[in-house]
Amino acid sequence: MKWFILFVASLVGLGLASSSYDHYRLPTDLLPQRYHLRILTHLEGPEALRFSGSVKILIQVLQDTKNISLHSRDLTIDESRTTLTHLGPETTENICVSSTEVNPTHDYYILFPCHELLAYNYYELNLFFSAELNQKMAGYYRSSYTDSVTKSPRWISTTQFEPASARLAFPCFDEPNYKAPFVVTLGHHKKYNALSNMPVKTTKPHESLPDYMWTEFQESVPMSTYLVAYSINDFSYKPSTLPNGVLFRTWARPEAMDQCDFAADLGPKILQYYEELFGIKFPLPKIDQMAVPDFESAAMENWGLVTYRETALLFSNNSSSLEIRDNVASVVAHELAHQWFGNLVTMNWWTDLWLNEGFATYVAALGVHHIHPEWRSKDRKSISDIWDTFRHDALRSSKPISRPIEVVSQIAETFNVISYKKGSSVIRMMHLFLGEEAFRSGLNSYLQDYKYENAEQDNLWVSLTKAAHESGALPRNADVKTIMDRWTLQTGYPVVNVIRDYAAGSADISQERYFSNNEVSSSHRKKCWWVPLSYTTQAELDFNNMSPQDWLECSKKGQSLPKTIDNLPGADQWVIFNTQLSTPYRANYDAQNWKLLIKTLNSENFNSIHVINRAQLIDDIFTFAWTGEQDYETVMEVLEYMHRERELLPWRAAFDNIRLINRIVRRTSQGGLIRQYMKKLLPPIYEYVNGINDTFASFQHQDEIILKVNVVSMACQFQVGDCVARAVEYFRQWQAEPNPEESNPVPVNLRSIVYCTAIRTGSEDDWQFLWTRYTKSNKADEKVTILDSLGCSRVVWLLEEMLELSFESRGPIRPQDSVISFDSVAENPVGFMLAKQYFMHNFDHIHKFYYPSVKSMSKLLTPLSMQMIDLKEFHEFEDFAGRSRNLLQGIEEKVQQTLERMRITVQWKQQNFDDFNSAIRQSL
Ligand SMILES: *[C@@H]1O[C@H](CO)[C@@H](O)[C@H](O)[C@H]1NC(C)=O
Ligand SMILES: *[C@@H]1O[C@H](CO)[C@@H](O)[C@H](O)[C@H]1NC(C)=O
Ligand SMILES: *[C@@H]1O[C@H](CO)[C@@H](O)[C@H](O)[C@H]1NC(C)=O
Ligand SMILES: *[C@@H]1O[C@H](CO)[C@@H](O)[C@H](O)[C@H]1NC(C)=O
Ligand SMILES: [Zn+2]
Repeated sequence: MKWFILFVASLVGLGLASSSYDHYRLPTDLLPQRYHLRILTHLEGPEALRFSGSVKILIQVLQDTKNISLHSRDLTIDESRTTLTHLGPETTENICVSSTEVNPTHDYYILFPCHELLAYNYYELNLFFSAELNQKMAGYYRSSYTDSVTKSPRWISTTQFEPASARLAFPCFDEPNYKAPFVVTLGHHKKYNALSNMPVKTTKPHESLPDYMWTEFQESVPMSTYLVAYSINDFSYKPSTLPNGVLFRTWARPEAMDQCDFAADLGPKILQYYEELFGIKFPLPKIDQMAVPDFESAAMENWGLVTYRETALLFSNNSSSLEIRDNVASVVAHELAHQWFGNLVTMNWWTDLWLNEGFATYVAALGVHHIHPEWRSKDRKSISDIWDTFRHDALRSSKPISRPIEVVSQIAETFNVISYKKGSSVIRMMHLFLGEEAFRSGLNSYLQDYKYENAEQDNLWVSLTKAAHESGALPRNADVKTIMDRWTLQTGYPVVNVIRDYAAGSADISQERYFSNNEVSSSHRKKCWWVPLSYTTQAELDFNNMSPQDWLECSKKGQSLPKTIDNLPGADQWVIFNTQLSTPYRANYDAQNWKLLIKTLNSENFNSIHVINRAQLIDDIFTFAWTGEQDYETVMEVLEYMHRERELLPWRAAFDNIRLINRIVRRTSQGGLIRQYMKKLLPPIYEYVNGINDTFASFQHQDEIILKVNVVSMACQFQVGDCVARAVEYFRQWQAEPNPEESNPVPVNLRSIVYCTAIRTGSEDDWQFLWTRYTKSNKADEKVTILDSLGCSRVVWLLEEMLELSFESRGPIRPQDSVISFDSVAENPVGFMLAKQYFMHNFDHIHKFYYPSVKSMSKLLTPLSMQMIDLKEFHEFEDFAGRSRNLLQGIEEKVQQTLERMRITVQWKQQNFDDFNSAIRQSL
């Protein structure tokens, strides 16, 4: 059997035969049963930075068919070597392939055998292919680092397949529902390590290449293609296997090994906790986690070989901030949670990506809390996820958690706040209304029932409903699906309006969807959610009871049913709904109830209101003022109490909201007002945290450290107290060090503030000093801290230079960090104008820089979206988006959301600017 060689690489536009089958999912008549994958990787020599390989797929035919359709993209397939074999009961028979075809829209590669493939029969397809190890951080790609001794680059290879890039590395049925065992064999020079999902089975010398060898791995459990992983590298590892635990290793480039301790210590403990939590052992014999110098996202949960960006895995005792440690912990916990949620049980199709991501996000918070309860990180994480959800999901252009997906770029766009953070928030809600017992036993039976298979959200609802009925958490006539469908299939979230009748001791409760844009018509607001209602009163003060005392219900037609709650106190006592923000909704009250709340806040008893609810009152009042349901005078009355506040969350709520407004106001003639206001608001708390003085050793809790960092950051930004002067002093001390690489006197947790302040107020020489540290640092997190501060400069040419360096493929800034340096310039009030111009004028170049991973490009839009303050700017961007429609393909959703956010910002300036200024003036 022989036919011509077809190059399947970059076929778009070549006008080759395009297929008659144009559905975005593969035909369902074939089932892959097992893959044998052999990949030969060259990191050096004449074939350097290329790979070649073969894949042998055992296929079961479910229905007679005349073709084999699978995925392949950017691979050169040597069709002269393709074989197809019919595996009969007694004999095997070679079948010729008469022709092949590609469908570039859906990345299909289609083979037409000489005769029909018959149902219930087995066939073996063998394909040979090769390609370059690309530099786009997707598929099978290359990454490098510099050897500090020889100063020469060291190459490694690694994979990133989720969501749809396995097809860039080998031809396969690249959809999550096609699970099969994989036998991977890697060919490589013998001086390198070969890693894959499973442990090594055997090694043997390469038959022809001197010094090359084959490493064969054990056959894997059945898994989806997006979870396959392999790497050839010269990394070192740290073992940290626990007694009775699976082999656990943490890999990094040799010079970063001293930064692996934290993750190596945490990983196995978290894994062990999940085995208990889910009641299912980790099914593989080993697990590796590996820090990759070039990595597009934060991390990837490949089964048994989890890969990370360096900043998400590495931590240095003496130089990494608390924020980095928190982040490493939660990313490690997130990826390990996926080993069950995602790897063992996988979503049927990307529509239910949130089942993977929402659960991993939520369960990660439980995991970190279990190992480090003293960090008290669980509430912090849950509340910040809900706040991020609130901001995103208040857009008309937001999308539901569970959504139809067709093309690959839509899959990529689904990795967003909604599937991660809203997903996690509604799971927390469910955990709270179901209770511990039903939640755990429901999850366990779901995982048991669907292990090594795929599932949809409805399958989960059935398991949880059954458990809830058994434990009595839900009455027999209620089910999880009815409640949860409202949250997962419907966009947005409710505002619950509480209007009290003080004489009757009752309250009417109603709901509507919340929009940041107050011009959205009321018909769009009439939506219904099943809302578990928890509440407490000034006399009860029972904030710990988060289980529902009542429900807001929906009719069969989806209309909100009226609800009255009785037995509430009289006119001298407040009520608060949503204890500890157990459900992702906002609560608004009548004027009298707000008055009562403000009175308590502004008294010695302010902390009789739970800290999470204090924070939420602040976030709610700011939000309602934004859209005109409340006014900024009331906001100021609430903030009045802050001189007593000593806890993190209320301050964070206030700072987040003030920053949002400041981004607008600072570009107007009234920008000085907020600064004056901060000079009044901040001093008590600034003193309380000992300002910028290095007193971290005296703190007991993480919350206090984070509070201090937040307060100092605001103080330096608004030039309160001695912040700026002392920050510059720290920086000068560092500059005076004879060896600034080795010794840095700036307190670790204040470094980003100190650097930014020193650069903002400093000279070009100061910038150069910091840039030199950037180029010399061996620590990824330190590099990011520095990069993030370099954009604080007010020197225009330096900012322009940073913008250019951001999008230079082989420059000193890695492409993965381009977003960080762009963002750092764009967040700066001087840099914003430059970044905006640069973005619009050089968009062709930026597009080329990212293509085909255009998703990263969408992150550049975030800082732009919240600072456009007048209609002219808005229209300028709108025109740009219209003109560039072609290049914005694949990030349409983000562009929509950016335009909407810009509109909302402009609207705020038109409607609220004067009110805000006069309210702030009165309170000075
Ligand atoms: C391949 O076969 C399937 C099912 O037999 C069919 O639906 C599909 O259209 C075929 N594809 C092509 C390109 O002919
Ligand atoms: C980092 O600190 C921890 C706890 O203080 C200690 O156990 C560990 O050995 C330290 N690691 C390094 C590399 O110094
Ligand atoms: C951190 O500092 C301690 C004490 O100053 C020192 O013993 C240790 O080696 C340092 N660790 C690293 C990784 O630099
Ligand atoms: C910081 O320390 C200096 C010197 O010890 C002291 O004078 C100053 O009041 C402190 N600042 C704050 C805000 O605590
Ligand atoms: Zn994830």
